[in-house]
Amino acid sequence: MHDRVSSISLFFCRMASVCFKRVRRRKSVKNETLFGEQDGLEMNDEGVGSWTAEKYRQFQLYAHQFTQGMKGKWKSLAYLDLYAGSGQSRIPDTNEILLGSPLIALSLDVQFDHYVFCEKNQKRLEALQKRVAKRFPRAKVKYIYGDCDDPSFQIGDAIPKNALTLCFVDPYSIGIHFSTIFSLSQCRKIDFLCLLASRMDAGRNPHNYPKEECKKVDILLGSETWREDWEKSKEGLVREPNLGDFICREFSRKMEGLGYLPTELHEMRPIKDDGGRVLYHLALFSKSEKAKHFWEQASKYSNPQRDLF
Ligand SMILES: C[S@@+](CC[C@H](N)C(=O)[O-])C[C@H]1O[C@@H](n2cnc3c(N)ncnc32)[C@H](O)[C@@H]1O
Repeated sequence: MHDRVSSISLFFCRMASVCFKRVRRRKSVKNETLFGEQDGLEMNDEGVGSWTAEKYRQFQLYAHQFTQGMKGKWKSLAYLDLYAGSGQSRIPDTNEILLGSPLIALSLDVQFDHYVFCEKNQKRLEALQKRVAKRFPRAKVKYIYGDCDDPSFQIGDAIPKNALTLCFVDPYSIGIHFSTIFSLSQCRKIDFLCLLASRMDAGRNPHNYPKEECKKVDILLGSETWREDWEKSKEGLVREPNLGDFICREFSRKMEGLGYLPTELHEMRPIKDDGGRVLYHLALFSKSEKAKHFWEQASKYSNPQRDLF
């Protein structure tokens, strides 16, 4: 009798342990780089370096927090990649192949319900479509071939109205159009994770960008008045401030104007090259404190030595 009781309790203990491990496995994300493979298709290689793995890690950790934390709280979750690329990036120096943002988003433990990928380079978009079809044949994906800033596309219409959307905005340079962000932010719940090419683009052109004829920053900020504020920001300082950092702050101020919570420069995640120089900042814009908490968690754990749980 005693033996029977102990073997039954042993059985239940084992079952509980298996279930617990399963739950833990589902809740955890390995803080690891996701590698792709050579498949003969087009790769992203422009602007790719060892630091790209850090960008992807930060993106993956945040997206993981987002889907884990929000699944079931909204009718559906959507992921929009405005600058989707081909789905794989090759680091020229090492030939390492990394999964790009669309495939990372599709690889999460807890999936989004809808995916929208926009890309203006036809070869890259075709490569992305093939990779997705091979790896994720059942995913609900819409592809938009063209310029994400072309208003005639109405990209927002590709996302269900009642979905909570995470939009990744990842251009090569400070090429974001504020008008695109503005129109996407209207009439839907959407958070933006933006790559602000602060130091690699704006920071390296402190004398060209403020010129009247150069409109790049005007388009990014959706305003022409920033030049006066830039001049004012230099007053009383011995050393000229960094234009890239100024632009990050201004962009954040513009997002506040759309109702997004303030995001200070120190809350943005700097991505550095091998020499420790900041190249760009990743910045999250959300109207929810919860999302900001997820972002803090992701930044904390994006250190390669640490797992998320
Ligand atoms: C830095 S890559 C981003 C790749 C992708 N987010 C990733 O991390 O794997 C930028 C991509 O955006 C595309 N692109 C540039 N400007 C664009 C635009 N206005 N609309 C859509 N795609 C654009 C480029 O062709 C390139 O593939």
